[in-house]
Amino acid sequence: TYQPVQADKFSFGLWTVGWQGRDPFGDATRAPLDPVDAVRRLGELGAYGVTFHDDDLIPHSSTEAERTARVRQFRQALDSAGMTVPMATTNLFTHPVFKDGAFTANDRSVRRYALRKTMRNIDLAAELGARTYVAWGGREGSESGAAKDVRAALARLKEAFDLLGEYVTERGYDLRFALEPKPNEPRGDILLPTVGHALAFIERLERPALFGVNPEVGHEQMAGLNVPHGIAQALWAGKLYHIDLNGQSGVKYDQDLRFGAGDLRAAFWLVDLLESAGYDGPRHFDFKPPRTEGPEGVWDSAAGCMRNYLILRERAAAFRADPEVREALRVSGLDELARPTLDVGETPTALRADRAAFEDFDPERAGERGMGFERLDQLAMDHLLGVR
Ligand code: GCO
Ligand code: MN
Ligand code: MN
Ligand code: MN
Repeated sequence: TYQPVQADKFSFGLWTVGWQGRDPFGDATRAPLDPVDAVRRLGELGAYGVTFHDDDLIPHSSTEAERTARVRQFRQALDSAGMTVPMATTNLFTHPVFKDGAFTANDRSVRRYALRKTMRNIDLAAELGARTYVAWGGREGSESGAAKDVRAALARLKEAFDLLGEYVTERGYDLRFALEPKPNEPRGDILLPTVGHALAFIERLERPALFGVNPEVGHEQMAGLNVPHGIAQALWAGKLYHIDLNGQSGVKYDQDLRFGAGDLRAAFWLVDLLESAGYDGPRHFDFKPPRTEGPEGVWDSAAGCMRNYLILRERAAAFRADPEVREALRVSGLDELARPTLDVGETPTALRADRAAFEDFDPERAGERGMGFERLDQLAMDHLLGVR
């Protein structure tokens, strides 16, 4: 029980289980992990997919021959584990060349290099059958006011994504982009800091249908935001193309804890939302096994992400199926919220003529009515804690 299967669509980045524990204050605590071993172990744990940055698979200074060999080994590992590559992305943040950004670097030659690096990995992503290409602009930002002309930088960002959209269209790739917001870290302030900023930006692009978002749980929480609310808006807009699941405890540095750690109640409502909305994309974990873990602890941490998702999925389903919950939802007016405020064809003039809506309406009485949200939330808490 709580054993993941392929149909659960759990996926992991090579950089997650492969994280060596290097942080701004300390050296690596773990040895490098061969992508071939990562694929095998993740497959054994029940994941269906593996994702990667170009540099996770092919180290930056590799020759063409090394690149070919690495890709071949990776393909063989995927085939023997029965795994797929649902998503790929570009590392536009590690090398010093990207210290002032990639698509929005002040240096134009860096921007052109970043585009070429991305196009090259898009070719590989398409070849490996990926359907989503994630773009996280960790270095697109600044630490000081005059250093970045934000309006010009957004124009360059649009230019980059319009070009990439044209590229995949020309090439006939079946690939959509998912922009990943983050408020800060590694830059002091990053462009497109939240889901809302990213959704608004996408509408200014030439091919908006090719672009959606890849929200990360902890990134929204770093901005003090309600994750399920942000994800719900992305779903409502038809833009949840991918998701990075992990854990975070409040407004602080990016913790990338395993899913379910940190804000457990947010995780519960998020799983409830994804499952009840019928989200059918990958459940992708972007976490970092803490640097205190040895090589085996990494797999405990990875298994925990999936186990917590499955437990929360079961708890959320039990909550939704509980007759007392259904009754409490009705008392709290959830069915009424689902009903449009106006009748079919009702015009402003008709609403103005409706005496029941205003002249005969009693706002005092309506204001006295209790909403019953505390009872409803306690029922959720009881389900989450497993006592119902
Ligand atoms: C973070 C980000 C990154 C990106 C990943 C894809 O934790 O700051 O989530 O992990 O998701 O690098 O480019
Ligand atoms: Mn993160
Ligand atoms: Mn992420
Ligand atoms: Mn991350």
